Amino acid sequence: MLNFDFYSPTRIIFGKDTETQIGELLKPHAKKVLLHYGGGSIKKSGLYDKVITSLKAAGIEFAELGGVKPNPRLSLVHEGIDLCKRENVELILAVGGGSVIDSAKAIAMGVYYNGDVWELYGTANPIENALPIATILTIPAAGSEASPGTVISKEETEQKLPYGNNKLRPLLSIVNPELFFTLPKEQLGYGVADMISHVFERYFTNTTYTDLTDGLCEATIKTLIKNASIAYNDMENYDAWAELGFAGTVAHNDLIGMGREQDWACHDMEHELSAIYDVAHGAGLAVLTPGWMQYVYKDNINMFVQFAVNVMGVEGSFRDPDAIVLEGISRLRDFYAKIGLETTLSGIGINEEKLEVMAKKATKEAFGNERPLGGFKKLYWQDVLEIYKLVK
Ligand code: NZQ
Ligand code: ZN
Repeated sequence: MLNFDFYSPTRIIFGKDTETQIGELLKPHAKKVLLHYGGGSIKKSGLYDKVITSLKAAGIEFAELGGVKPNPRLSLVHEGIDLCKRENVELILAVGGGSVIDSAKAIAMGVYYNGDVWELYGTANPIENALPIATILTIPAAGSEASPGTVISKEETEQKLPYGNNKLRPLLSIVNPELFFTLPKEQLGYGVADMISHVFERYFTNTTYTDLTDGLCEATIKTLIKNASIAYNDMENYDAWAELGFAGTVAHNDLIGMGREQDWACHDMEHELSAIYDVAHGAGLAVLTPGWMQYVYKDNINMFVQFAVNVMGVEGSFRDPDAIVLEGISRLRDFYAKIGLETTLSGIGINEEKLEVMAKKATKEAFGNERPLGGFKKLYWQDVLEIYKLVK
């Protein structure tokens, strides 16, 4: 096990009707907030009205900025920064999914950053300060409700880049599984593929003596697989959504990744798909992840046998470990298909035209300073291209 420093200050308020507490929860922290949201699902579901009622009852003033798109855009972030400065906003309340929360984080640090906040993306540069953030989560997926990360797209340059800093971890997040009932079915699949990937990026490691986190990872993936199928067939099943909601936060607040070298190649490869083709993050991950597994597993086959047996329930002869691993990968693909996900690039509308461009952008080869992806196995642009081709 490696040395680690675990910091996860986000208060999670979980369960039925918890969104009605938002005004009282924010009262000690701010007199004026920015209410940030997406394309309108919160108005349709009635959540917007509940939030406004709760804020007003607590005497909290608010400015509003809606219109966050999936794969959130830098242009709206700039608008939000100006608005917060103009209105003297003290806290940002993000009501929505990962895109809204990530946009809120960009605004929160942009208010204090001296320059264009985009300069921070793709770097590990420190920030001095950020406005506090609270969230009301409407889709279990990105884990941004308790993560230090934000991922923003810049349309002009077809770039989608991450930035992470502990100062961006939300102060508090409300997770009410009832709010997930209105999700379109395909969003369930995208969310589940993302949550599972957040575990995989930590689980597949060459670090040894990681029994505890191996077990936590395996329990999280099994919980996601079991309850995704239940919710997919019964979109108002509270208990299944509760399991998914809790697992989503656990998958990405980084507890299960402590003491292990992490990977993150699938995420880096996926961001290129979203940047150019505007596909949902989870849709891209469901396609890429099995291909990545096929490409890398021989580097540490024991780790993948453990996955196939402990998580996917594969039985077989340990004298033929390749067969066990390939059956595990095949079962994962079948599961994705069962919850409505495509398993090829062509299935999500991506042809071969830009595979090489994306491989070179992902590894920064395109910018003249190649940085191989991944911790489990180092991937250069030629490797990334092979993986894209494996799943075309
Ligand atoms: O915009 P509205 O109208 O609200 O509709 C949204 C959106 O169209 C809809 N939706 C959300 N909750 C709903 C709902 N519709 C009906 N009922 C509800 N309860 O779902 C659509 C997708 O929303 P989005 O926020 O984009 O989904 P998700 O949470 O999957 O976030 C994806 C983004 O998070 C980033 C991804 O790259 C992607 O841009 N990630 C952020 C991370 C982080 N900050 O730590 C880590 C992740 O790896 C990920 O990269
Ligand atoms: Zn993700």
